[in-house]
Amino acid sequence: MASSAQKPLPPGSFGLPILGETLSFLFDPEFARKRQAQYGPVFKTRILGRPTVVMTGPEANQFLLSTNMDCFSWREGWPGTFKELLGESLFLQEGEEHHRNRKLLMPAFHGPALVGYIDTMQRLTDRYARRWEEMGQFTWFDEMKQLTFDIASTLLLGSEPGAETAQLSRWFTELTNGLFAPPIRWGWTTFGRAISARDRLLDHIEQVVKARQAHPTHDALGLLVQSEDEEGNRLSIEEIKVQALLMLFAGHETTTSMLTSLVMALAQHPDVWEKARQEQEALMAASGPVALEQIRQMPYLDQIVKEVERLYPPVAGGFRGVVKAFEFNGYRVPEGWMALYRIDAAHRDRTIYTSPESFDPDRFSPDRAEHKRSDFSLVGFGGGPRVCLGLAFAQLEIKLVAAHLLRHYTWELVPNQDLHMISIPTLRPKSGLNVVFKKRDHAQAQAAA
Ligand code: HEM
Repeated sequence: MASSAQKPLPPGSFGLPILGETLSFLFDPEFARKRQAQYGPVFKTRILGRPTVVMTGPEANQFLLSTNMDCFSWREGWPGTFKELLGESLFLQEGEEHHRNRKLLMPAFHGPALVGYIDTMQRLTDRYARRWEEMGQFTWFDEMKQLTFDIASTLLLGSEPGAETAQLSRWFTELTNGLFAPPIRWGWTTFGRAISARDRLLDHIEQVVKARQAHPTHDALGLLVQSEDEEGNRLSIEEIKVQALLMLFAGHETTTSMLTSLVMALAQHPDVWEKARQEQEALMAASGPVALEQIRQMPYLDQIVKEVERLYPPVAGGFRGVVKAFEFNGYRVPEGWMALYRIDAAHRDRTIYTSPESFDPDRFSPDRAEHKRSDFSLVGFGGGPRVCLGLAFAQLEIKLVAAHLLRHYTWELVPNQDLHMISIPTLRPKSGLNVVFKKRDHAQAQAAA
């Protein structure tokens, strides 16, 4: 058997000196697919100045996300702008430190805590839906973004929607713009403005944390302040501040993207929409408004949410730094490289999903359960020990908003808009999804049935 040193590097091209293949990576949506067709599921390239191995398929996902995590650094996977703007938060932490903090953060996003969030999510969804009804026609991505920001900032920063949230949202947009900007820190540059927005947000969170310490509450921030492990460790104010900022960042664009794709897919597939409505109507007739027990009894909506995660994953993949050389699929990958795992490619793998290009929620029905053909084939929220911390929170929010809209509203896509999907920073239709939105006439709907 060949020793590791004799194994070849993966096939592929490093591209131009210095620049490598960065421009194609950033601007060609077909970048990875074309190279995969030419070189196979594991290939090398050079992105942002670093030799990079791109690893595709469920086995590659499992290798990176679970079985061989010790070869990879999460911290080295993020660009410097993230480190500066999002601070020492969970995304960047590793080993013991990551383990401890994840355990302390977890209770605010799982199990019993979620029950306490439903009212806020419900109340804000209802308020936005009424506003949309009055507006009649609007761009849904922008509106969903405000809704998900209001939900996250109410639960995480304790702010009530209104002038304060609007200000927080502006600072937050400045911060996010800086994540993808050149790191030039003058006051007037995008990055400089992002740093000053970060400082304002951190100041704001500090005030709220102090208020929570004096008067404990049951929202997510209140739970973070009180969270304690078996040894009595708690998060310090500095830690809570950066972690809360990270949650706001990680949770808000991603959830917006998935909700926008969901309402688009329903409008494009009337048969799926009708079946989902019927499920909601049966629940409404049996037990009234959406409640946590009901959320668990929506198998068809579950299938739709999974299919949206598969076909329209908000995040296309994840970078890691290679901190220990390894072998995969007969190739060697040296220490110091970057590795990229691809969520979107696993979701369109023909050996797992039948006609992967089509929107077909029934592929997740108990009889077909196509994703069970292979572990790590549905990874829209990552996988393994570092699977998305907000998974349960996001799924609750998405189902709650979708159930409310299905029950009480109807919408149509405005003709002649550009629905090509763009992927940076998160997946969305190019037009942002322009819709005409109306209240459902229940009497008419029942007469037609
Ligand atoms: C539809 C919504 C969401 C999607 C699609 C999503 C997707 C992801 C993905 C793909 C990862 C793994 C990244 C990697 O492997 O490099 C991840 C990690 C993470 N997500 Fe989410 N996310 C969503 C919502 C949320 C929400 C609501 C929160 C917070 C409340 C959140 C917090 C996090 C955190 C903290 C991590 C890092 C976990 C760790 O490293 O231990 N996400 N998410």
